[in-house]
Amino acid sequence: MLVGLFALLLLAVSSPAAEALDNGLALKPTMGWLHWERFMCNIDCKHDPDNCISERLYMQMADVMVKEGWKEAGYEYVCLDDCWLSYYRDTKGRLQADPRRFPGGIKQLADYVHSKGLKLGIYADVGSETCAGYPGSFGHYETDAQTFADWGVDLLKFDGCNLDWTLLGEGYVNMSRALNKTGKSIVYSCEWPLYEWPYVKPNYTAIREACNHWRNSADVYDSWSSVKSIVDWAAANQDIIVPAAGPGAWNDPDMLVIGNFGLSHAQQESQMALWAIMAAPLFMSNDLRDICPRSKKLLQNKRIIDINQDPLAKQGYLALKVDSFQVWERPLFKNRVAIAVLNVQEIGGARGFFVGAAPGWKICKPSCNVTQILPHYKELGVQTLQSNLVVKVNPSGTTLLTVTPISGDPAGVYRLHWQDSAGTRHKDTLVL
Ligand SMILES: *[C@@H]1O[C@H](CO)[C@@H](O)[C@H](O)[C@H]1NC(C)=O
Ligand SMILES: *[C@@H]1O[C@H](CO)[C@@H](O)[C@H](O)[C@H]1NC(C)=O
Ligand SMILES: *[C@@H]1O[C@H](CO)[C@@H](O)[C@H](O)[C@H]1NC(C)=O
Repeated sequence: MLVGLFALLLLAVSSPAAEALDNGLALKPTMGWLHWERFMCNIDCKHDPDNCISERLYMQMADVMVKEGWKEAGYEYVCLDDCWLSYYRDTKGRLQADPRRFPGGIKQLADYVHSKGLKLGIYADVGSETCAGYPGSFGHYETDAQTFADWGVDLLKFDGCNLDWTLLGEGYVNMSRALNKTGKSIVYSCEWPLYEWPYVKPNYTAIREACNHWRNSADVYDSWSSVKSIVDWAAANQDIIVPAAGPGAWNDPDMLVIGNFGLSHAQQESQMALWAIMAAPLFMSNDLRDICPRSKKLLQNKRIIDINQDPLAKQGYLALKVDSFQVWERPLFKNRVAIAVLNVQEIGGARGFFVGAAPGWKICKPSCNVTQILPHYKELGVQTLQSNLVVKVNPSGTTLLTVTPISGDPAGVYRLHWQDSAGTRHKDTLVL
């Protein structure tokens, strides 16, 4: 069934409620590679030396990131997750890497990664132990922050296991202060709201003041149902989380699992498109040494990355759910708009979604340029108020468009309104 659309209305968009963490970092969503989803807590270097958590893995990943265009595409941070640690602190009470798997130590690894023009991310935990049972930072925030700074670490992912939930806020804020006190700017990636949600609605004003990005929902798995549940969570909570995003402060829906085993190509396109719409940090968790060319091309697609990194720095949101389609939109710099149409009907072939500029679609008054970016690049040309445009959307796939006004009212911010085939107006689900 075809669905009609839409009108752009003028609306002032408020800026985020409070200041973001002032460390000069993550002014655009952070991009890099993180080991967890693909390599987990594989510490068996005897039987699986190529895939175990060891300095070799990150050095090889850094090499490939430079050689194969990842760095050039914007992926900059090479990040460790859980299981890099020794079970024991050193004689001065400092965390140390497992000496068998990281014989050179983290400082040397950071130097190596820096020599490639990349940055190093590390992992620790706000509680008494990490999720995998290694030493946690509780009671050691200042020591650990200083240790990471001394090593030249550029990003800290701070997990939330093994701490009474009533202390989460204090713990995350204390670590934020400890990082600041080192005098070295370190991207601070939190999981504070994820661990608070079961008990209380998190205070996103406080979170964005302390953290550069924060996880809200469960760990991503290598499956469409997992990616879909994260997207559904973001949609269900968008009036809480979307206003919290902005330069230096981002909602983190977790890693990109593109290039692994669980997603069809259409589903990989959906993850990439929706992570761009959601202004998500882009941390790939895959094996860059062995990745299929099509997934690589998708992950390095400059037009999609440009949407993710858009200078207006506004997170997009679900605008309409109708006929098993979800229409997501993200306002972009210079009154452009990105539109992602997701087909959640997981049966049959591609279905047509009708995009017709209706009276009031100001962005197309008198005309606009529409470009299709996914599933493949196509200039759809100049559209006017009279246009009828039908895009095809694959099952569990996403068709991604950008809309660029050619002329019209240059001032102001535009929003879409949607109208179905019966002519019923659907107001945006979100009012910023
Ligand atoms: C520490 O915080 C102050 C005040 O917010 C800020 O001006 C400064 O740049 C921060 N320093 C680092 C290293 O993050
Ligand atoms: C945070 O720091 C304050 C001030 O030093 C201290 O009183 C409090 O116990 C700390 N909380 C946690 C969870 O570390
Ligand atoms: C949320 O945090 C902010 C900043 O720390 C604080 O001013 C505000 O009172 C908090 N709100 C609630 C409801 O606790």
